[in-house]
Amino acid sequence: MHAVGFDVNGDPGVLRSLDLPAPVPGAGQVLVRVAYAGVNYGELQHVLGDFGPPRGPRGIDVPGLEVSGEVAALGPGVSSLAVGDPVAAYLPDGGGYAEYAVAPAEFTYPLDGTSLRDAGGAALALTTAYGVLVGAARLRAGDTVLIHAAAGGVGSAAAQIARALGATAVYGTVGSAEKADYAKRFGYDAVHLRDAFADRLRDLDVVLDPVGGRTRLASLALLAPFGRLAVYGEAAREPDLTLPVLPFWKSNRSLTGYNIGDLARRAPRTVRGHALSAFALLTSGAIRLDVTAEVPLARAGDALSALASGQTVGKTLLAVTPH
Ligand SMILES: NC(=O)c1ccc[n+]([C@@H]2O[C@H](COP(=O)([O-])OP(=O)(O)OC[C@H]3O[C@@H](n4cnc5c(N)ncnc54)[C@H](OP(=O)(O)O)[C@@H]3O)[C@@H](O)[C@H]2O)c1
Repeated sequence: MHAVGFDVNGDPGVLRSLDLPAPVPGAGQVLVRVAYAGVNYGELQHVLGDFGPPRGPRGIDVPGLEVSGEVAALGPGVSSLAVGDPVAAYLPDGGGYAEYAVAPAEFTYPLDGTSLRDAGGAALALTTAYGVLVGAARLRAGDTVLIHAAAGGVGSAAAQIARALGATAVYGTVGSAEKADYAKRFGYDAVHLRDAFADRLRDLDVVLDPVGGRTRLASLALLAPFGRLAVYGEAAREPDLTLPVLPFWKSNRSLTGYNIGDLARRAPRTVRGHALSAFALLTSGAIRLDVTAEVPLARAGDALSALASGQTVGKTLLAVTPH
């Protein structure tokens, strides 16, 4: 099968086209014939080496954390799906940049009327957006919410989910004026530039922060009493913060975290629950993923380079075997 992978960490230029044997689903797994693979910041980190050196067969890793496609085969013990079913799947161990990928059945979600294209970037991005809002930040109806990286794949989904779950005000930050204009389509009350939000907002119940560094520090000061800053990424690639704890006591603040990989290992039913709730919103039309670029699998490196530059908006898909 055609796949894209790497055998040494580096910038996305290390990715190359490969001809690999199709994987075989083991117990509790599903083989998916991939139609679309979502492009995610986590895959950039995988290639760069943030998660360690390649550990796959023959020293080659195939990135790709989310796909849509059709079930091609079932591993032993899987009876909840059938060959030919259209599905979206979250792949905790990667492998989505390929014509065939193996997914845990628990993270393989039947599509109920949603097209393979609309679902191609959903299984990681929507589950993360829902999980960080509901699981980590404990969003409640009536909350005010600030979302950093507001125009991106996860951020644009989080804005719509927050609104659907009853947030009364949803603000965003982005890196440029063009992105602010773009992000308005997701229902934000206001979208600020990332370097100029701190004196425009206050008393926030929830802040979603996948950026880190200075943005994270400035966000802490904006929390309402019992406000929650949910950390779930480090896109700015700035040094980690070292924070004293007493101000959390003295200012009634909370810092919380979300990591889907850790949850997949330690609380897989929670991941599935968040995913099914998010997919229900997608199916109902309450939320949508905005596909802004669709590139062939062989150009996966270019897609990751664009994400690394911080210039992308919405969701990029790799068209693997689109149908
Ligand atoms: N914890 C988890 O389980 C989990 C799961 C999925 C995703 N994530 C995180 O969620 C975030 C969003 O992921 P995504 O795939 O949807 O990506 P994305 O938001 O579509 O793209 C990343 C965005 O990060 C922002 N950014 C801020 N500083 C940056 C810098 N120095 N270089 C590049 N980008 C920078 C950029 O938006 P602006 O310039 O507009 O700010 C950029 O567009 C990532 O941080 C990712 O690691 C975490």
